[in-house]
Amino acid sequence: MIILGIETSCDETAAALVEANGDNLSVLANTVSSQVKIHAKWGGVVPNLASREHVKNIIPVLDAAFRKADLSPKKVDLIAVTQGPGLIPALLIGTSAAKTLSYLWSKPLLGIHHIEGHIFANFISNKIDKDKNKIKFPILCLVVSGGHTQLVLMKKKLDYEIVGQTLDDAAGEAFDKVARILGLGYPGGPAIAASAAKKSKKLRTADHELALPRPMINKSNFDFSFSGLKTAVLYAARKLQLTAYNKQLLAKEFQQAVIDVLVHKTLKAAQKYNPQTIMLAGGVSANTELRKQLGTAIAKNIPCTKYQIPDINYSIDNAAMIAAAGYFRWQKMTARQQEKALANWIDIEADANLELS
Ligand code: KG4
Ligand code: ZN
Repeated sequence: MIILGIETSCDETAAALVEANGDNLSVLANTVSSQVKIHAKWGGVVPNLASREHVKNIIPVLDAAFRKADLSPKKVDLIAVTQGPGLIPALLIGTSAAKTLSYLWSKPLLGIHHIEGHIFANFISNKIDKDKNKIKFPILCLVVSGGHTQLVLMKKKLDYEIVGQTLDDAAGEAFDKVARILGLGYPGGPAIAASAAKKSKKLRTADHELALPRPMINKSNFDFSFSGLKTAVLYAARKLQLTAYNKQLLAKEFQQAVIDVLVHKTLKAAQKYNPQTIMLAGGVSANTELRKQLGTAIAKNIPCTKYQIPDINYSIDNAAMIAAAGYFRWQKMTARQQEKALANWIDIEADANLELS
């Protein structure tokens, strides 16, 4: 079957066409129009600006996806749209477009939780690893995005138990705020990663002046806290001269502090819940060091556990992941529920605080 995915929860207008055969998902088109340049001027996403841009871009993005896939809308069997969480002015554009198309084309419509989309990005087939349907449960998924940091235990598909989460800032949010403190630009994640990856010459600043805390690393629960880490960067930035060199060292130390905590807590949760697979999901999963270091730690400490990361194209916000989640929801529905989904264009409402369930 063919699934049209639509995503507008933040600053990316995205549409995708995904073909599903059994558990095999192949992406026919994955179109993303990013508003990063527009919001960079403001140092973060401005909701009403995002909304205007989505209005401008949604039809061209949909059109580009159908052209890329060389498909007629008649071929679509299901429409899946991000219902929440996210920015309401942004979500409303995607949900309105999806509802209109569902009504006009008489296609069933499903509202998808954005994080469920990130999780199912891991199930999209690619050239290297076609057998994504071999992913074994239970899965422990480390979700790290701009709005979420959670450890999610999945005993089966669509079954979520949040075993730990951030008590304040999300990991991506901390990357963005620290990048702002260091004057590295927006979005902060890629900027910090790039700065941290630069080869540095000899260390000219004393180690202890740059050492940052690893918040909650020794707590027995699986929760996180990144707000204090951001404040520690702020104090260090005030104390030290913010030369290009010191910025680089702070970026590197901050990134490492975040990774240390994420890796440590994930492994600790794995010891308790014994997952068959550990997965990474959300925009911060694009971070090369995090991908690498979590993989190394799993291979070293729990080598029998499979490590699954999303293809880099599906790490940050996209609509292929929404189509993927839509498909797995569809698979679990009864014929009656599937029929009722034809009328969902009436009921689905954008929800800024939608819970994962
Ligand atoms: O999932 P996402 O695209 O949007 C949300 O659902 O929030 O995640 C965006 C977040 C931003 O905070 C961004 O700075 C972060 O992901 N991010 C990264 C990297 N690429 C994006 N963080 C660290 N390293 C990266 N390479
Ligand atoms: Zn996201």
